[in-house]
Amino acid sequence: MTDDSKVGTADIGVVGMAVMGSNLARNMAHKGFTTAIFNRTFAKTKDVMDEHGSEGDFVPSETVEEFVASLKKPRRIVMMVKAGPATDATIDQLTPLLEEGDILVDGGNSFFQDTRRREAKLRDMNLNFIGCGISGGETGALEGPSMMPGGPKESYEHIGPILEKISAQYEGEPCCTWIGTDGAGHFVKMVHNGIEYADMQFIGEAYELLKGIGVTPDEAADIFANWNEGDLDSFLIEITSEVLRQKDAETGKPLVDVILDAAGMKGTGTWTVQEALNLGVPAASIAESVFSRAVSSSPELREHAQAALEGPNGIKVDDREQFIDDIRRALWCAKVVAYAQGLDEIRVAGQEYGWDIDVAACARIWRAGCIIRAKLLDRISNEYAANNLVTLLEAPSIKAELAACQDSWRRVVARATEAGVPIPGFSSALSYYDMVRAPRLNAALTQGLRDFFGSHTYKRVDKPGVFHTLWSGDRSEVEIEA
Ligand code: 6PG
Repeated sequence: MTDDSKVGTADIGVVGMAVMGSNLARNMAHKGFTTAIFNRTFAKTKDVMDEHGSEGDFVPSETVEEFVASLKKPRRIVMMVKAGPATDATIDQLTPLLEEGDILVDGGNSFFQDTRRREAKLRDMNLNFIGCGISGGETGALEGPSMMPGGPKESYEHIGPILEKISAQYEGEPCCTWIGTDGAGHFVKMVHNGIEYADMQFIGEAYELLKGIGVTPDEAADIFANWNEGDLDSFLIEITSEVLRQKDAETGKPLVDVILDAAGMKGTGTWTVQEALNLGVPAASIAESVFSRAVSSSPELREHAQAALEGPNGIKVDDREQFIDDIRRALWCAKVVAYAQGLDEIRVAGQEYGWDIDVAACARIWRAGCIIRAKLLDRISNEYAANNLVTLLEAPSIKAELAACQDSWRRVVARATEAGVPIPGFSSALSYYDMVRAPRLNAALTQGLRDFFGSHTYKRVDKPGVFHTLWSGDRSEVEIEA
């Protein structure tokens, strides 16, 4: 430590001065916390000090030793480094310098199983590890993100008040709450991203349908802006309008028409689907959104299929305004299904991993700050708080609106299907709605087939037990001993 006056002065520290880290550190300083900052290369720390040093109390350090020593005890450190090996390397660099009771927060988009592993390792060292999902992008980090911390509950008492103060506020309530132990926070952030993918896929499908009936990007921007005034009010609908209105400086065309139609992804949506598969949770609308990005980014497949396949092209509608309103309703219904599937995944994971997650609280902290922030989330959190819901779809106000909107939803899916407009999200969400409400599913026939070719057995509707039909014998039924 070169400068003794810095020792034990900082309330909290941030490691990693890329844009998310520096914005979060600035947010902390803006809220009155003395904030220690450190980056692997000092140049970045220096840049932050040069550009923003006057915004609050920062304690910059050149070495990790100096950084750790500058913190008050128990030390509170938020790592804002790339998820994966860089996170492990930073943990290994910091832990030898930490003492019992210190708190290390991972604010990156880490995979929740990595968080569980890291939490267990640090617990063995008597250190507190918190995996904190942070949503809201660069602006959120600076002005108030939605924060989803998970880890040892005792440590939340030391770090929670700071996180709650720097998080977004919704009508005076912080968009941050303790989610559960070990990987719970990162799990919830992962599902947030899965819902984010689905939300964007549905918006994309709505736009394709509007295009199909001849709506221009400017007109569509107006339509989305108008939808943003009602039940669909959300950040993603708001920015859809802005993106659609944007013109390309080079060509003068709408920007959306010159952007290559190949969607990228960093993997959190894929994790959501993989984990849904592991848990046996039907999250097909989220899966469709991931697969849709995959289709868009498969040029060879698309090129060959375009050359080989025929189909209808172009939607015909009698009443344009009515169809536009149908799309709005279909978008709302599909969005509800994606929330239902994501929240179901959280509920089931909570049981599986012993997290005891409050689903109402998850919806509550998504009401502001995060990418999926939406007016609907206030209603969802109230519904979960007031009712013992297994699925969002049974919530009183939700089921009533789904019932009122479903004709529109069905019309949109039917029209799009007839016209050859791909709507994997809308139709998958509608199939989910129809499947979960069906008194009987085609699974009975599946069981019969499984029993035929593999003696996989089946249960009966009229008596307990496990049965098998002697398909290659006299086709009589035998009961299988338990
Ligand atoms: C957020 C976002 C963010 C995510 C980006 C990009 O909540 O602030 O979810 O964490 O990294 O949205 O995600 P993809 O590159 O996977 O689309």
